[in-house]
Amino acid sequence: MSTHRYDYSLLAHNSFGLDVKTKEFVEYSSVDDLRSFLCDRDCDRPLFHIGGGNNLLFTKDYEGVILHSGIKGFEVTGIEGRSVLVRIGASEIWDNVVEKSVEAGYYGLENLSLIPSEVGAAAVQNIGAYGAEAKDFIDSVEVVDLESGECGSFSNKECNFAYRFSNFKGSWRGKYAVTYVTLRLSLDYKPNLTYRALAQVAEENMDALALRNKIIEIRESKLPDPKTLGNAGSFFMNPIVDASKFKELQSEYPDIPHYDAPNGVKIPAGWLIDKSGWRGRKLGNAGVYEKQALVLVNVGNAKPEDIVRLSNAVCDDVKKKFGIEIFPEVNWV
Ligand code: EPU
Repeated sequence: MSTHRYDYSLLAHNSFGLDVKTKEFVEYSSVDDLRSFLCDRDCDRPLFHIGGGNNLLFTKDYEGVILHSGIKGFEVTGIEGRSVLVRIGASEIWDNVVEKSVEAGYYGLENLSLIPSEVGAAAVQNIGAYGAEAKDFIDSVEVVDLESGECGSFSNKECNFAYRFSNFKGSWRGKYAVTYVTLRLSLDYKPNLTYRALAQVAEENMDALALRNKIIEIRESKLPDPKTLGNAGSFFMNPIVDASKFKELQSEYPDIPHYDAPNGVKIPAGWLIDKSGWRGRKLGNAGVYEKQALVLVNVGNAKPEDIVRLSNAVCDDVKKKFGIEIFPEVNWV
C-alpha cells in the first residue's frame, strides 16, 4: 500500500528542520506499490525521491511529488567463503543495520556507525567516515526505473562510486528509486584503524562492538544531534588541491591537516572554514557549529534562505582567504 498526502510539511523529512511543503508526498511499502504508483501517475508533475532527508537542503516549497520508500528487510541471501551477503530494504535506518550486523557477527560496518541515513540514500551518497565508505561493502543495488517502472540491478562497479558520489548523483540523477541494497560483509573481524584520529584513540584488542561504541562516542562529541539542533552533517565536501597549491598552503600553515587523495591532496573544509573565522558564528537563524565548522546548523526557526545565505558567505570567505573553492556536499532541492 502507498500513502498519499497533499500540501504536506516536510518538517519530519529533513534533518535541517525546515518547514517547507510539498504539493504531494507518496510513501510506498513494496516494489509492486511503487510500480503501480508509477503506472497510474500524472507524468506532468516532477518527482523527487528522498531517503531519510539527512543530506538535503530544501531551498523552497516543492511543487511536485516527493517519493519516499517504506521498503524494509534484512535478509542473509548467501555465504561465499568468509563473506556473507545481506539484502537490505532501502528504508532501513543505516545505524540499525550496523548494529544488527555487528550483533550477528557480520563485520565491516563498524566505522560507519551512527551516520544518519537510510540504506538507499547511503548507497546513492556513498556515505563515509573514519577511513571507510559504504562502497567498500556494497555488492549490488536494486532499483526501479522511475520512467518505465522496470526493475533492475547494478553491480558495485556499475555504480561508479567515488568520494560521496555514485552514478545516482551523476548521470543517473532522478532516474531510479533504490529498492534494496545487498552488502557483502565479513565473517572475520578485522578492525579498520587507518584513520589517524581513530588509531590515536582506539584501544588494543577492541572487539567490533567496542570499536562501534568508540565511533559513536567520537561522533556524539563532535557532531550535533539533528533532533536537538537541525543540521545535515558535513555541509561541504573536503576540497582536493594540486601538489603545488598544497606546497604553497603548507609553507604558510605548517600545521595544515591533509590526506592523500587519488588526484591531489585533500584538505578538510572544516579547517579552512575554522581558519576563516566562521566556527561558532551565526548569520540570521543559521550558524556554523561551534565544535565542527564543516556543519551548518539551524539555530531555531531558520528559513531555507538563512542556510543559503550562510553557505554563500562561508564559501566566499574561504575563497578570499585561501583561493580554494568549496562545494556543498548536501543536495539542494
Ligand atoms: N578541523 C578544524 N576545525 C573544525 C573542524 C575540523 O580544525 O572546525 C580539523 C580537525 O582538527 C582535523 C581535520 O580538520 O584535523 C578533519 O576533521 P574531522 O576528523 O572532524 O573530519 P572532516 O574531514 O571534517 C570528514 C567527513 C565526515 C566524517 C569525518 C570522519 C567529509 C565531507 N566529512 O570530516 O563525514 O564523519 O571525516 O571520518 O568528508 C558527513 O559526511 O556528513 C560527515 C560527518
